[in-house]
Amino acid sequence: MIQISLIINGEAVTASVDPRTTLVDFLREKLNLTGTHIGCEHGVCGACTVHLDGVSARSCITLAAACDGHDIRTIEGFDEDEKMNAIRAEFSAEHALQCGYCTPGMLMTAYDVTTRFDQLEEAAIRREMSGNLCRCTGYQGIVHAIQNVFAGKAKE
Ligand code: FES
Ligand code: FES
Repeated sequence: MIQISLIINGEAVTASVDPRTTLVDFLREKLNLTGTHIGCEHGVCGACTVHLDGVSARSCITLAAACDGHDIRTIEGFDEDEKMNAIRAEFSAEHALQCGYCTPGMLMTAYDVTTRFDQLEEAAIRREMSGNLCRCTGYQGIVHAIQNVFAGKAKE
């Protein structure tokens, strides 16, 4: 076992982990942060996306031990975040979720994309979001929601 200390959603966490434990298993099974979903477990679908030091990362292919000393933010860490709440409102308005399984990962990537860019055309939004798969294929609503977020930014 390895001792790790990291920040999760703004709180200091110290734990003992097996060297092979993935970050998503650590979050879900040790910390009960089940908002981060597990899909493919191969770094393909994006369901497990979290922010690692402020940047989107796949928690299914990141070892918890490798996060020692780092800052992790999961979907639960955005409850009071004005920007995330605006993205959530657009997802809701555009019916950008069906079963909702992909939604936490989609929101995490949408937050990252709308932070890194001031404006993006539809094709670029689709490209930036292409690492997140929706098995319900609800991409149209997701893209519309992100377009609305960018439209809101343009008015600021
Ligand atoms: S579960 Fe991590 S990318 Fe699919
Ligand atoms: S809403 Fe079902 S997987 Fe995307």
